[in-house]
Amino acid sequence: MSAPRAIPHHIAIVMDGNGRWATRRYLPRVAGHKKGVDALRNCVRHCGDVGVKVLTVFAFSSENWNRPPEEVSGLMELLAVALAREVPQLQSEGVRIHFVGDRSGLSEKVRNGLAHAEAVTAANQRLVLNICFNYGGRWDIAQAAARLAARGEAITELSLNRAMALAHVPDPDLVIRTGGEMRISNFLLWQGAYSELYFTDKLWPEFDAAALDAAIADYAKRERRFGRTSEQVTGPGHGRKVA
Ligand code: FPP
Repeated sequence: MSAPRAIPHHIAIVMDGNGRWATRRYLPRVAGHKKGVDALRNCVRHCGDVGVKVLTVFAFSSENWNRPPEEVSGLMELLAVALAREVPQLQSEGVRIHFVGDRSGLSEKVRNGLAHAEAVTAANQRLVLNICFNYGGRWDIAQAAARLAARGEAITELSLNRAMALAHVPDPDLVIRTGGEMRISNFLLWQGAYSELYFTDKLWPEFDAAALDAAIADYAKRERRFGRTSEQVTGPGHGRKVA
């Protein structure tokens, strides 16, 4: 709650722009998602290198089911293939994988792949990678409330927090969205209450280590107040006028 940390502990990313990246090259949209996996691999590595401890990415939203069937099945296949291919490397880099989302709508193949990736990497401690898949912020709040109601527990901020899908990590410090849109799109509605937001026109497949460094450098300049005054946060005479 005091001075900003130069390196955010937890970064969350809306990886937007894969489709446009592919369309501009006269490629099918799924080719953009494949390129997006490459960008994600590099991003995970760079996060680990600079000392980010948690990376949460939005890979498939509850609303993405409305996309053309071939794109939906392409993304499902990509997840299964990426898991099988990337897990050994992630394992050797000390990455712990968590899946966040509604698994009930996913195929058995995908669910097994997710469970395997989580089990294999469970003891890793360098970086937590949360992959939000079939996820929506409203879904998360509703499922947490339903679980508390089923157990007859009172609904409070604390109990909801503990029942949410990201209860295993602190809230994100920095939420990045690529692709030029400036909205949250049902991502981390609860957990992002005090996150710093960073938007870039870069399309996700173009988001490289330098782009991540630029986002982190921008974050380092922010004054995080959590509802307090500038003077409370920085001490008398140091307050900057930040809305
Ligand atoms: C949004 O771009 C991106 C997605 C819906 C999928 C994100 C998935 C990846 C980056 C691949 C990694 C995922 C796995 C399987 C681990 P868009 O398609 O909405 O792009 P557009 O706005 O240009 O159309």
